[in-house]
Amino acid sequence: MKHLLGTKDMTREDAVLILDTAAQMAATQEREIRKLPTLRGKTVVNLFFEDSTRTRISFEAAAKRLSADVINFSAKGSSVSKGESLKDTALTLQAMGADAVVVRHWASGAAYQLAHGGWLHGSVLNAGDGTHEHPTQALLDAFTARKHLVGDPAGKGLDGLHIAIVGDVLHSRVARSNVHLLTTLGARVSLVAPPTLLPVGMGPWPVDVFHSLDDALDAADVDAVMMLRVQRERMTGGGSAFFPSPEEYTRLFGLDGDRMARLPEHTIVMHPGPMNRGLEISAEAADSPRSVIVEQVANGVAVRMAALYLLLAGEEQA
Ligand code: NCD
Repeated sequence: MKHLLGTKDMTREDAVLILDTAAQMAATQEREIRKLPTLRGKTVVNLFFEDSTRTRISFEAAAKRLSADVINFSAKGSSVSKGESLKDTALTLQAMGADAVVVRHWASGAAYQLAHGGWLHGSVLNAGDGTHEHPTQALLDAFTARKHLVGDPAGKGLDGLHIAIVGDVLHSRVARSNVHLLTTLGARVSLVAPPTLLPVGMGPWPVDVFHSLDDALDAADVDAVMMLRVQRERMTGGGSAFFPSPEEYTRLFGLDGDRMARLPEHTIVMHPGPMNRGLEISAEAADSPRSVIVEQVANGVAVRMAALYLLLAGEEQA
């Protein structure tokens, strides 16, 4: 593996390798001294053109725990706000000796362009490109689901599990990356959304589709419910073109205490964050003992350590 750009073309073998490596990384994080010398002397640049809290901090923590040098670069306050192109930014990072660039960008395809533009020699990790892909989020989601729902998970996928992804699929790179990854790992995936919040061109996706959360819960038991944020910033007109009102959205697609009570005992509740409490998820659901939302954040560090390790040190170690 040279780059981590998406999950669409990822093999099951590679996905399981990343999850198993993440499990080993997670084990090192239980120790008193959590820092490993693995990436000493390597430079990881966090290149963020879009706002982020957990993803940026998570990549930074992951790189630092592997002893890499980390440079944080956010577009705000940089020459990007003076109109500098992605190419010139990339050439600058190359000149500074970046071994890996973690990129988040508002344009779908930006990570691919950075990896294949011929401007950088290092690895590119996609931390979210437009509405396209967010592979490390999907990997941490798969890791979290596997840990909770598959006994003795090493070497295993998610065979036989049913995962419902609920809400604003249209604008969600998290949903796209998860559809590809979870199905590659053997899970059944149901998408639950109003027709206006489903992408066109999802015909070939191997998923079931429901237009209300109750319909999905009636149809089959789910092992995990993954709630998505309603991405108002990507909706021109504040959302009114996509659903009649926030109340109506919550009534059909929100996860609340009543719907929680209908879930099987073992079912976990996930959300990539940031949450709109009271819109797609109630406080009762978000804070319930079956919610693994905070744990997803912790697992994100282990998964990103695994990704950085496999891209930057994997070959040398092998
Ligand atoms: C997601 C993102 O930025 O794509 N958040 C994240 O990375 N944890 C989802 C979102 O913004 O709703």
